[in-house]
Amino acid sequence: MSDTANSLNRYAHICGWGTAVPDNILTNAELSRMVDTTDDWIVNRTGIKQRYIANDKETTASLGVKAAKSALDTANISPNVLDLIIVATSTPEHNFPSTASIIQDELGARNAGAFDMAAACTGFVYALTVAGQIIQSGSMNTILVIGSETLSKIVNWEDRSTCVLFGDGAGAFVLQGSEVPGGILSSVLRSDGSGGDLLKVPAGGSAIPASYDSLRDNLHTITMNGREVFRFATRVMADACREVVNEAGLTMNDIDFIVPHQANVRIIEAAARNLDLPLDMFIMNMDRYGNTSAASIPLALCEAVAENKIKPYNNLVFVAFGGGLTWGATLVTWDVTTTTSHNQLWHKLRRQALYRVARIRSTIRRGTRTLEGVLWGGEEMSDK
Ligand code: ACO
Repeated sequence: MSDTANSLNRYAHICGWGTAVPDNILTNAELSRMVDTTDDWIVNRTGIKQRYIANDKETTASLGVKAAKSALDTANISPNVLDLIIVATSTPEHNFPSTASIIQDELGARNAGAFDMAAACTGFVYALTVAGQIIQSGSMNTILVIGSETLSKIVNWEDRSTCVLFGDGAGAFVLQGSEVPGGILSSVLRSDGSGGDLLKVPAGGSAIPASYDSLRDNLHTITMNGREVFRFATRVMADACREVVNEAGLTMNDIDFIVPHQANVRIIEAAARNLDLPLDMFIMNMDRYGNTSAASIPLALCEAVAENKIKPYNNLVFVAFGGGLTWGATLVTWDVTTTTSHNQLWHKLRRQALYRVARIRSTIRRGTRTLEGVLWGGEEMSDK
């Protein structure tokens, strides 16, 4: 999946980005009062010091909407311009409707299709790749890619081997097509389903539907073989980086930063050793966020952009691994095409007005549908 295959001369550029996290922070010290663990153990084995945890009202969609609005502000575009919304998540609001459709409605993105992408922690890389390919094919021009998770809602808070790892948050990119070469240069997507049992939420799907038994046996929460996932991750991270760089016709010397999935500092250190790269080429923020699965790459990237670490035309490799098992990488040139408009504030206010109108329109639609159902629903059914 390389840029050399792009015969249409369409390129997918990142032109907007944004994040959102819940207000609540859970520190290692607080966790050590909940399960048999210590701050020392968590920091030394994972690099994590704290994570954000959603409250009852915060959901994958509400965090995703906040991140999306922030990304649309950076891109300075209206939600009406969006052709598609892809939400990478392992913690969707429901099996259906998709979280992407809920976000589409909240944003009032009237011209957009919407779907969720399930590839666990690799979800953002998968979604970015799919969005890039659709834009490069010329069939769509503007796509919103969101990674949003509320993993705290599927964590077993009595299992010290997993509950110390995960956190909640969301990150979003707006991708837009142009004839200017750059943006997404290449991608590598891989899966090895034989390792599916190493990292899973056993129940709640068609294999084990929800039942009293599944609830009693705690089968709706994350189970993981940490050591095996660790071994798998250290192997595939470096391989995926090499492959994606090769695929773009570049060498590791051309890469400025690697933005890895933020699971464990030791996994990233192992990947750096394997690739013979200095650790400061790896963007890391898991100390403050924990593992936020599909949200972790945009959360790390956006923070590095805000800190002016990422410079225009830097070559970045996004690389991730996760449940499935899945792994993948995307190589992107950070050739930000956002134009600073004199009317940026005006556009922002206009977007805020559009969001309000979208809420009202959605409420009216629901009301009208209910009313039509009452007035004509029975009649239409009996016509058939
Ligand atoms: N506090 C204290 N002790 C603990 C804790 C804890 N929170 N958790 C486990 N231990 C104990 C274990 O019980 C074990 O004790 P024992 O030797 O007496 O049996 C000991 O610590 C060592 O356990 P290990 O599992 O070998 O510890 P390890 O060094 O492998 O670290 C960890 C565990 C952090 C989970 C690591 O294996 C890891 O990061 N694995 C990868 C996880 C990951 O990246 N998951 C990705 C999920 S992405 C997605 O798709 C959702």
